[in-house]
Amino acid sequence: MIRLETERTIIREPSINDLELHHRLFSDDKVMYYLQDIKTKSIEESRENLLASIEDIDSEDRKLYFFKIVEKNSFEHIGDIGYTVTHFTPIGKFVHLGYFIHEKFWSKGYVSEAVRELIRFAFEENDVYRISTGCLSENIGSEKVMQKCGFIKEAEHKNVQWHDGKAKTRVEYRLLKSE
Ligand SMILES: CC(C)(COP(=O)(O)OP(=O)(O)OC[C@H]1O[C@@H](n2cnc3c(N)ncnc32)[C@H](O)[C@@H]1OP(=O)(O)O)[C@@H](O)C(=O)NCCC(=O)NCCS
Repeated sequence: MIRLETERTIIREPSINDLELHHRLFSDDKVMYYLQDIKTKSIEESRENLLASIEDIDSEDRKLYFFKIVEKNSFEHIGDIGYTVTHFTPIGKFVHLGYFIHEKFWSKGYVSEAVRELIRFAFEENDVYRISTGCLSENIGSEKVMQKCGFIKEAEHKNVQWHDGKAKTRVEYRLLKSE
């Protein structure tokens, strides 16, 4: 079981007891505006999504490393962060990073704080070689997290994603262990 700590937060594995708070986050229209493909529309969908992460925890070739970020003092659920393993290679795992938190916690530095710790964990303790991530370029807060945490811009794909009735531009970032 992985349990990480930052100045203000605890980053912990999910459990089935989290179903209610998991659903509240995953079904939130505003939080999930840029994450339509994983947004849930019912508690059953949220349960399936949560169980997929939980069931993967003990598997030998674990692919889903998704965690709950909770506030240290209040244990309030701030949001979720994690990565999916896209390739297992002899030099380490290639992973794709994602994060989303409740609106009341936005712009307070929580995600940057959590991402920095997750990067440390990935490279130092989880045999990760490459972390990739990306967002729509209009999602300024998300791109700022990438830049603040030392990610390197690799690409800008003009009008590549159909989102909310428009073709929108995506930016892609990466960080290698050696960087
Ligand atoms: C994007 C998100 C993860 C950022 O998390 P956060 O904890 O607010 O990020 P941080 O506070 O660490 O850093 C964000 C920075 O962007 C700034 N920012 C946020 N929204 C902004 C906006 N619309 N315009 C300009 N700057 C913005 C913040 O002020 C902060 O800057 P600072 O470090 O100079 O103070 C969070 O807003 C969120 O969960 N959004 C919904 C889900 C989402 O879009 N996830 C990413 C999908 S790719």
